[in-house]
Amino acid sequence: MTDLGAVATPSLLLDHARVTRNAARIGERVTALGARLRPHVKTHKCVEVARLQTAGHFGGITVSTLEEARAFAAHGFDDITYAVPIEPGKFGGAVALAASGVRLSLLTDDAAVPGPLGEAARAAGVTFDVLLKVDCGYHRCGVDPEGPALVEVAQRIGERSSLRFGGILTHAGHAYHARGAEAVAPIARQERDVMRSAAERLRTAGIEVPVVSVGSTPTVVHVDHLNGVTEVRAGNYVFFDLTQATLGNCTADDAALSVLAAVVHRDVHRRQVILDAGAIALSKDRGAADLDSGGGYGRLLDLEGRDLGLAVTGVSQEHGTVPVDDDALLARLKVGARVRVLANHSCLTAAQHAEYIVHDGPRVMDRWPIHRGW
Ligand SMILES: Cc1ncc(COP(=O)(O)O)c(C=O)c1O
Repeated sequence: MTDLGAVATPSLLLDHARVTRNAARIGERVTALGARLRPHVKTHKCVEVARLQTAGHFGGITVSTLEEARAFAAHGFDDITYAVPIEPGKFGGAVALAASGVRLSLLTDDAAVPGPLGEAARAAGVTFDVLLKVDCGYHRCGVDPEGPALVEVAQRIGERSSLRFGGILTHAGHAYHARGAEAVAPIARQERDVMRSAAERLRTAGIEVPVVSVGSTPTVVHVDHLNGVTEVRAGNYVFFDLTQATLGNCTADDAALSVLAAVVHRDVHRRQVILDAGAIALSKDRGAADLDSGGGYGRLLDLEGRDLGLAVTGVSQEHGTVPVDDDALLARLKVGARVRVLANHSCLTAAQHAEYIVHDGPRVMDRWPIHRGW
């Protein structure tokens, strides 16, 4: 087995024990809450990780790009929700996927979309489930759950013979502005209750609502029950990261993703070292910097996973700056020394790389490809 010390830098490292444990823990939690798990694979874009998440579940996944849908379909995933509102430029790609035999569910919150989408599907001889996106308080996309568009868009979808009204879907992204169980729990209840009421309104209007889909990592960790919800689409939980740890949704020991980097310059007078991992290898995400400014662009571990008490405080494209106060550490971090930088936001860090180096402690176990692009 190769040792991490022999791996080229910068490389993306995935801790096998942690990713396996995270997948199992939240998977079991969703089952205990009485919902189906349709994990969001945008976090990792990796077939092997999705297999860990879907083992023992019904097998459906959520994607954020049509390229993810194509890559996962090519590896046997055949029940896929594309959870970004569909626009006409992507009708062709969606139709091609459906024509290849994938059960592809699409998303809209716009009354003008079902007409042309239904026409494109009819012309190609395919059928789509179309979910209605509902705004549960994040205010990014989605219809107002109490406004007229809820029933109107659902009806527009149901009118088209090549579209089926699949149900309703939301994402409580505003939970990322809350810290700790006490702050997140009300948002988790809001996400659930807004969707229960919206489903009730639609049913009162005579519209069947097969799917009531929610999903974010903070809310699935802290929600008290999911009665009335059929599906959870959490994604980040499978890796977690320093942002989630700062927000109180996991501990730093759950964070499965790090970047292997080498020291390329040491300045004993300025008391800092420069790594070959900068904005491209790490991403420029500063995590929950308003809550923990000390985290910078990621905290440093040694190859055995021990926290070095250091952080990357500055990045340019291929350089990361690490201030080092401790004399012994500065002596140790000579040019060529290797460290790991824990990801602040694992989804964005993963999307910078072509593959995961899967490791068990300091040993390399495998390499898993990442399917990027749109
Ligand atoms: C529409 C949608 N669903 C589900 C998720 C998964 O959320 P998380 O990564 O917090 O689990 C996201 C994340 O951005 C999303 O945008």
